[in-house]
Amino acid sequence: MTSALLDEVVRAAVRDARHAPSSHNAQPWQAVIAGSPEARAALMTLGDDVLVEKNTAFIVVALDPARCLSALPAHRIEMLVSAGAYLESLFVALDAGGLAVSVVWRSGDEGAEKLSALTPGWEPVALVAARRGSGPVTEASLRRRTLLAMRRTHRGAYRRDPIAPSALASLSDAASLAFPGSRDLCELVLLTDAGVRATVGHLLREHGAIEFTHAAAWAETYAHIRFDDSVLAGDGLPIEALLAKPLPHWQKRLLATALSPGAMRALAPLGLARAITAATAQNIAASPLLVYLRFRANDPPPSACLAGGALVQSVWLALAEHGLVLHPVSVLLQHDTLRATLDGRIGQNGGRGFFLARAGSPVDTSCPFAPRRVLEPRRA
Ligand SMILES: Cc1cc2nc3c(=O)[nH]c(=O)nc-3n(C[C@H](O)[C@H](O)[C@H](O)COP(=O)(O)O)c2cc1C
Repeated sequence: MTSALLDEVVRAAVRDARHAPSSHNAQPWQAVIAGSPEARAALMTLGDDVLVEKNTAFIVVALDPARCLSALPAHRIEMLVSAGAYLESLFVALDAGGLAVSVVWRSGDEGAEKLSALTPGWEPVALVAARRGSGPVTEASLRRRTLLAMRRTHRGAYRRDPIAPSALASLSDAASLAFPGSRDLCELVLLTDAGVRATVGHLLREHGAIEFTHAAAWAETYAHIRFDDSVLAGDGLPIEALLAKPLPHWQKRLLATALSPGAMRALAPLGLARAITAATAQNIAASPLLVYLRFRANDPPPSACLAGGALVQSVWLALAEHGLVLHPVSVLLQHDTLRATLDGRIGQNGGRGFFLARAGSPVDTSCPFAPRRVLEPRRA
């Protein structure tokens, strides 16, 4: 493979990976291709894993603080999890491009300052090495890449039929390409019991209004909601995707006012927050499956959060393969006491939950998509 072709495959993969899910669709990631002699010299000092050979491309994946959510301490984990989902997507796309890929440096390893010099203003979280693979590209690899753009969040009603055992089995088997050891760090809990789902729905009904009444968190969420028809920003949450249905222009304008932080302060105590939460609570209880991912450690390091995000994306892609969708309900995990209550009520001990979502087959498949910004990698 010529270096021009390698570069083309890498740039295409960086673009394909943009379909990764992220909290508030903030897409907090950036990518830097380290190709200059100076950059490669800096990489060589990182350690034995980094073999700076001629036909190897190096991609630094970084968090962009300007794109990161920060209203709650738990957002730090959500941003790393989102970056992990991006990394997994990048691996899927590079693998389908015929490359052999590995993470040769991750947040927490020695030498962060050397990578920071290549990503000014951004926080490097992983260094990926990609070189020509030894065998032909498999059908499974190509299929996985197709799923990147098919996987999605759906916030509407799901069919009540139980999830097929074959689908549950492929979720249980889902493995990350980027972090093959992610199951050692994280546990996947599949909750199908109707009583457990009702318990989680009830907890959301009781406490979920905090999503709207926590002033800083709601202001940040509101800033990410897109009420107009324009998707030019290429990020954020279209109101139609949040409500899972097309809306006339006047209704979007009305919602822009009714949901604004000022109006929410006035209307939440009158029951608006509880009313919105009640609809999701009902959907949780009625969905056939809850997917709960938990770190085995109480206080996971950044590298574990990345591995967790990669596993989230593997599980989500496995769902997409079966025509299934997810609707995360992060509010139950964002506040320590609420998370502890959740775990207590559903019998989970130790570790820390980091991703909770209802899963199923959507009743209405025509739900609007969330946009993506075009991601052209920076060069160093
Ligand atoms: C870590 C994480 C947390 C999320 N939390 C929520 C959530 O609490 N509520 C929600 O509706 N969507 C949540 N999402 C879904 C994102 O909003 C969604 O991925 C993004 O809007 C892009 O849409 P898509 O998944 O359909 O491509 C979360 C996604 C991730 C990766």
